[in-house]
Amino acid sequence: MRPKRTSLVHIIYFSRLALASDQAKRSAQIDDITRVAQKKNEFSVITSFLLIEGNFAAQIIEGERSSVQETFERIGADQRHRDVQICEWREIAKREFVNSFKCAQRSAANDTLFAKAALLPMFQRGTPKATAIHSLATALQADAMSRQGIDHLFV
Ligand SMILES: Cc1cc2nc3c(=O)[nH]c(=O)nc-3n(C[C@H](O)[C@H](O)[C@H](O)COP(=O)(O)O)c2cc1C
Repeated sequence: MRPKRTSLVHIIYFSRLALASDQAKRSAQIDDITRVAQKKNEFSVITSFLLIEGNFAAQIIEGERSSVQETFERIGADQRHRDVQICEWREIAKREFVNSFKCAQRSAANDTLFAKAALLPMFQRGTPKATAIHSLATALQADAMSRQGIDHLFV
């Protein structure tokens, strides 16, 4: 018999970024976040996906309950964003994301998917739906993977 798996949860939150207005500085800050988050998440067996649209961020963090909680506490205290609000925190049957940390910013290459999800007005009203964040993140992941030719692994 397979050993019982530890309990998996995900947190979906959104926040307002407080990054530099200068584009070069802002991308250096995002690169810094990415570098540290990849390393720490790998160590804690966390998988995650961060969406950035304008000055809003939304992230899904998956993993073992205490690792997710500990990671979220650190993220919540980070001065590079504010108004961090949880949309959903629940047990999940399986992980949906394959990378320890992936960040997708709205750009010309993924504009259709962001436009279809129409998250921006929800962010502005302060009421983004967890399902809308989750489906945009999975669509962006699927799109990135099919560009790499590895979509057949995840049907
Ligand atoms: C929008 C955003 C998302 C982040 N995501 C993660 C993450 O997934 N994992 C992580 O360890 N740190 C993440 N960070 C960075 C943490 O807030 C923190 O700076 C980092 O974990 C180092 O924490 P420490 O300085 O307390 O060791 C994120 C920060 C921001 C602003």
